[in-house]
This record gives sequence, C-alpha cells and structure tokens, in this order.
Amino acid sequence: MVRGLLLGLAALLALFGAPAMAQDLSVDELVAKGKSRYSRMCSRCHGAQMRNSGNSSFDLRKFPAEEFGRFRSSVTDGKGRMPSWGDVLRPGDIEALWAYVTTQAGSRDMPEAARAALAGDEAVPEEEGAAALETVAPGVLTVCLARNGGAMSGWRHDGGVGLDYLVSRALAEALNLRFAAAWYEAEGGTDPRAEAAALMSYGLCDLVPAHPLLESAVGAPSVPFGQMPEWLGQPDQWYRRNRIALEPIAVTAPYRRAEMGLVLAPSAGERDPAGLGDLGGLRLAYQGNTLAQLVVRMSAPPDLRADAQAEPPGAGFLWRMETGLADAALIEVGAYDFHRRQNSVTGLRLGSWRHPLGINLGFAVLARQDALRQAADAALTGLLESGQVAAFAAQSGVHHVPPRPPLGPATLTMAAIARLN
Ligand code: HEC
Repeated sequence: MVRGLLLGLAALLALFGAPAMAQDLSVDELVAKGKSRYSRMCSRCHGAQMRNSGNSSFDLRKFPAEEFGRFRSSVTDGKGRMPSWGDVLRPGDIEALWAYVTTQAGSRDMPEAARAALAGDEAVPEEEGAAALETVAPGVLTVCLARNGGAMSGWRHDGGVGLDYLVSRALAEALNLRFAAAWYEAEGGTDPRAEAAALMSYGLCDLVPAHPLLESAVGAPSVPFGQMPEWLGQPDQWYRRNRIALEPIAVTAPYRRAEMGLVLAPSAGERDPAGLGDLGGLRLAYQGNTLAQLVVRMSAPPDLRADAQAEPPGAGFLWRMETGLADAALIEVGAYDFHRRQNSVTGLRLGSWRHPLGINLGFAVLARQDALRQAADAALTGLLESGQVAAFAAQSGVHHVPPRPPLGPATLTMAAIARLN
C-alpha cells in the first residue's frame, strides 16, 4: 500500500524546498506524476507499467533501489541505445519517475533505500542555508533568460553571455544556490507581466531579469491565462495553444536602468546635442511603437516633431542609420550597445545626453515567493554596491546605467512623460 504514505522529511525538503513541503505531497502524488511521464516517454520501450515484454531494453523492475544518481544520469544523458531525456524533462520529473520505478509502477511501497538515495543525492549542504528558499528545482536558482536578449543575454553552447546572464549567475552564487539558465525566445507583447508570469507560473524558472519596476508591470496580469513563449528543450508535443494559468508577479530591487540617448551618424559631425531641443538642423529618426515615439510626440519641440522620421521597429533600424537614414536617432542605450557588438566598425556614436525618462529594471518573481524576493533584493543590492554589476557590464561591452530613485515600482503617466524633455 502506498496511499497516504508521506515521504520522509529529509526527502521532502530535498525535493521541494522547505516552505512548500508541508501539506499534501505524498509518494502517491509523486507516483501519479511519474506514471503520466512514464507512459508518455518511457513505456514504448520499457513496457506498459514496466512489464518488460522481453525486448532488449533494460528491465526497470531490476534497477537497484539505492542508485538514484545512476538513474538520473542515465535518464538525463541517455545510455547505449536509450536516448537522452534531459531536454524534455521538467523540474521534478526525474524524482517522480524515480518514485514510479522504485514502487514498481505503484504496486508496492517505496523502499527505504530508494528514499534515502533521493534525499542523500539532492540534499543541500546545511550550513549554506539554501534549503530555506523554495525554488522550482531544489538547491538551484533557475533563471529564464532571453536567447534573443541582445547585448543583455544570449545563449551559447557552453553557457551564455551578456549582462543579465552574468548578474543572474552571480545572484545564484550570492544566494548559495546552484545556477541554471532556461533559455526562451522573448516575444514581448503589450502586457509586460504576461510573458514573465507564464514562464514562472508554468514552473520553468524562479526569476526573469530585466523586468520594469513599474506599477503597471507587477501584480496580476491583465488576462487570467497566457501562452508560453518558445523555449529551449520544450517537449516535442507542446502546443502553442496550451494555456497557462497566470499567477501575480512582483519585482525585486533594481540592478540596472534602461535609458534613451541620441545615436549620432557621421553626418552630425562633432556635435554632442544637449537634448531634443538642441538638434538644430539635424534630422532625427526614431522607431515607431516604442517609448521613443511617445517621447518625440509628447516632449520634442514642435518643428522637430514635424520633421522627425518614424521608422519600423526592429534590429534593422541602426543598420539603416549607418547608411544615411538620418543624422541622429533617439534610441535605448542597450540597443546601441548590441548594434556596436554586431558591427565593430560602426560609424555611429552615442552622444552623452540621456533622456530623463528611464526605467529601473529588476528581476520578476512570483508574488507568492516573498522569501526569495527578499533574499534577491539584498543580494542584488550587494552586487550593485560592490561594483560587480558595473564590472559585468564592462565585461559584456555595454553601458551600465545604475538604478535611480525611486527604487520601488514607479508610475509612468502620460502627464509625467510630457513634463520631461
Ligand atoms: C527508445 C527506447 C527507450 C525509451 C523511450 C526509454 N528507454 Fe530507457 N533504456 C532503453 C534501452 C535500450 C536501455 C538499455 C541501455 C543500455 O544499457 O545499453 C535503457 C536503459 C534504461 C535504464 C538503465 C540505465 C542504466 O544505468 O543501466 C533506465 C534507468 C532507463 N532506461 C529509464 C528510462 C526512463 C525513465 C525512460 C523515460 C523517461 C526511458 N528509459 C525511456 C531504451 C529506452
């Protein structure tokens, strides 16, 4: 009988992190979850309910109950003619499969050795105190990073690059957690909460960087359900129309700031304009449907506004600036940094003026993850004050703009934008 049998405390701590532990996680539920994963991914070779039909696949009923580590590496990385499952498994799947396999498809209790193996393997060293933080994978801080994050994050076979990537890794270290990146394809969209909320509500990661500290970007998303963006390692059978119930989100203390400046073409000569009112005769371009458009419409001098040229948004914009589109462009500093990285012989330079409208950026976190948010707040403040964030920016070849007060979520109103120039 396995019904109602609770896992040992140590195993639970190791599996789910302390706070979530409690209530209702039983071997039953693990086995049930393992059963559904097994029938989807494993049964065609290892037999329905592990009844091996005598084929050449390993008879899982004979797998030693104390060798969780071997189980995990064989299943994750593959073995012999068995494919690897590491890209397909979601956090917690391997433990559920272990419970399913060691209870012989739920037909017997989980052997003590199987539980001990699980607890021993996953336990986080006590003195580090990391077990107190609940994360999607125990002892690991998983951060969702945009594979197409420009100068701020990019995926590489052996890790990643960019300021957001480096800060995420250092944050994990500061929290005494191992670091894992979950790479997704950022799509943006109109509600800045929706994408981050989908990624975290689904359980892909604990944090999402570069989240605006705006009142309009925290709390419950404007719609109850959302879709996942594409991500690296998503199951083959994933349908875009799968709906994710979105949880409310919060945001940590800021670690950088998004600001706009003027990118100047060679045709602007040596000039370094002191603002939109100081362009005198220079032709200005900006990307439509961006904050820059809002700023030009609301706060540029009337004659400049009339002549300024709206361009389609996208990476091609600064390339067109290279070939004489206009003399100056109002654009986010990070976009210029990325362009410069892609084009080391660029003729464009960044002027010293910054538009006063900037947005502080922190990490999005589920609102219910209060302990994690507080720990991240303290760690990020430390990274900022010790100069590490600035060092990471230099290493990534991007301008680092430190956050400016107010450091809590700000309100961005049209009236406030109109007052700035
Ligand atoms: C395409 C067929 C196939 C699928 C699907 C498959 N396996 Fe296997 N599995 C094998 C074969 C073949 C072996 C024997 C590998 C060897 O030792 O060469 C094996 C061996 C194993 C072993 C023993 C590894 C060891 O260390 O000796 C485990 C555990 C295992 N599979 C678990 C799983 C789990 C869990 C799943 C589902 C997530 C799965 N397998 C899906 C074919 C498959």
